[in-house]
Amino acid sequence: MTADRMIGVMGGSGVYDIDGLEDATWQPVETPFGAPSDEILTGRLHGVRMAFLPRHGRGHRFTPSTVNYRANIAAMKMMGVTDLVAVSAVGSLKEEYAPGDFVIVDQYIDRTFARVKSFFETGLVGHVSVAHPVCGRLSAHCAEAARATGVKVHEGGTYVAMEGPQFSTLAESRLYRSWGADVIGMTGMPEAKLAREAELCYACVAMVTDYDCWHPDHDAVDVAQVVATAIANADKARSLVAALPALLKGPAVPCEKGCTHVLDGAIMTAPAK
Ligand code: ADE
Repeated sequence: MTADRMIGVMGGSGVYDIDGLEDATWQPVETPFGAPSDEILTGRLHGVRMAFLPRHGRGHRFTPSTVNYRANIAAMKMMGVTDLVAVSAVGSLKEEYAPGDFVIVDQYIDRTFARVKSFFETGLVGHVSVAHPVCGRLSAHCAEAARATGVKVHEGGTYVAMEGPQFSTLAESRLYRSWGADVIGMTGMPEAKLAREAELCYACVAMVTDYDCWHPDHDAVDVAQVVATAIANADKARSLVAALPALLKGPAVPCEKGCTHVLDGAIMTAPAK
C-alpha cells in the first residue's frame, strides 16, 4: 500500500510554526549528517501529515552559513516528508517585485561558497540534474495556495543565493540586476540542490521584504526592514501553508516531473563486488 503524502515546511524569517496543527509534537531527530537546526514539529493539518522545521532554529540561532543544510534535508526525508515547501525572506532586484509580494522561485544562481552542497562524497560519486531545480507540480500548488491568501504572486523568478551574512554591495546588487535575476537571499542554496539529491519534491515561496540596496527611492536594506516586512506578511505565509493540505491530500505517487527518481542513473561509482 502506498503511504500518503507528507508536507514539509522549512520555515524562514518570520515563520516559526504552523497554525491549527493537530497532535502537534516537537520531535528530536539525529541524522547521519549531524543535528538539524531544531526539533521537528509534526502533526496533522486537515487530515494531512505535516512536518515543520525552522531553518535557523527557534530563536534564530544559525547564520545562513552555519545552518546544517544536509541535516535539515535528511531529517525531513527521515520523517517521511514527500513534498517540501521552503519559505524564505528575500530582497527584490526588480521594481515590479515589491515588498510584500510572494515569488514562486523557479531558478537559482548559486553564489554560495562556504557550505557543504552535496550528500555525495568520496566513495559514492553522483551527479543529479538541477536544470529545473524545483518541482513544477509542487510550485504550481504553492502558487495556487498563495493566490488564495490574496497576496500578489509572481509565478517564477530567479533567486540569487549569496553567502552573507553581510548584505550586498551596491556594485554586487547592480551586477545581479544586470544578470536578470529577480530576488536575492542567503538560504535558497544548497537547500534546493540537496532536496533534489534526496529525491524530494521541493518548492520555494519567497516573501519579498526589501529592495536590497539598488533602488534610488529606498534605503539600503537592513535587518529592521526585513523583520518588519516578514512579520507583516507572516499571516499570509501561514494561510498559504494552511491551504496546502487540500491541494496535496492523497497517496505519495511518483512525481510526474521526475523528482522522486532522480537518482536512477545518477551514480558514477561502480557497485561494490
Ligand atoms: N533576505 C531578505 N532581504 C535580503 C537581501 N536584500 N539580501 C539578501 N538576503 C535577504
